[in-house]
Amino acid sequence: MRKKIIIGNWKMYKTTAEALAFAAAFKKLYKEEAAEAGVCAPFTQLAALKAAFDGTAVRLGAQNAHFEEEGAYTGEISPAMLVEIGVDYTIIGHSERREYFAETDETVNKKLHALFAHHIAPILCVGEKLEQRDAGQACTVVETQLKKDLAGLTAAQAGTLVVAYEPIWAIGTGRTATPEQAEEMCAFIRKTAAGLYGGAAADSLRVQYGGSVKPDNAREIFSKANVDGALVGGASLKPEDLIRIIEAAV
Ligand code: 13P
Repeated sequence: MRKKIIIGNWKMYKTTAEALAFAAAFKKLYKEEAAEAGVCAPFTQLAALKAAFDGTAVRLGAQNAHFEEEGAYTGEISPAMLVEIGVDYTIIGHSERREYFAETDETVNKKLHALFAHHIAPILCVGEKLEQRDAGQACTVVETQLKKDLAGLTAAQAGTLVVAYEPIWAIGTGRTATPEQAEEMCAFIRKTAAGLYGGAAADSLRVQYGGSVKPDNAREIFSKANVDGALVGGASLKPEDLIRIIEAAV
């Protein structure tokens, strides 16, 4: 049985004071049995959140990392810097980074390898645009992303992956994929991983759905066999909303 994993992606929201207020409320409400859960926060909040979540099961992640060990890369953060803080995960390849910050499958692949080398669990985001879905290309687009992004991983690494299927048309739009659409693509991602890394890796890797997940629609989405949780944007900003989504996984 794969444990469900519900992760908040705060994007560029919250000051550190606001993040600490969230942490104080959230850690009182969170029960680990419900699902593995945590938040991926902006870099400036990570050290304070790490201290705030100390002694709890709440996980912590970043939203990006550079692929080099160190160097003249103004404004970037290396995996070693994240290890020093003690993050559990890092989101890689979010569509907002692909669209606004020139992230490519090649840089995503380098980042995946760098994170594995530092024992940080990557949460790899893939997903198609609306025009690609309308043109019947959703599966091809996601398959191409997976093949390029995962190139060179070992089966053991692939088996520990978290892949977030985030259809771009469902992010921040209030237009969530139907549970059937989420299941279809999450199953396709698992099938593609099986082709690349074998059945054992595909069975153990976890596939999240992301895109307008809310307390009211989470339970139906989580009821699908290949949906192992969610990457939650807007609804992860309030502790009570994120808790209701986590509880929907039970
Ligand atoms: P929303 O939940 O706000 O649609 O964002 C989804 C997302 O991009 C999570 O990474």
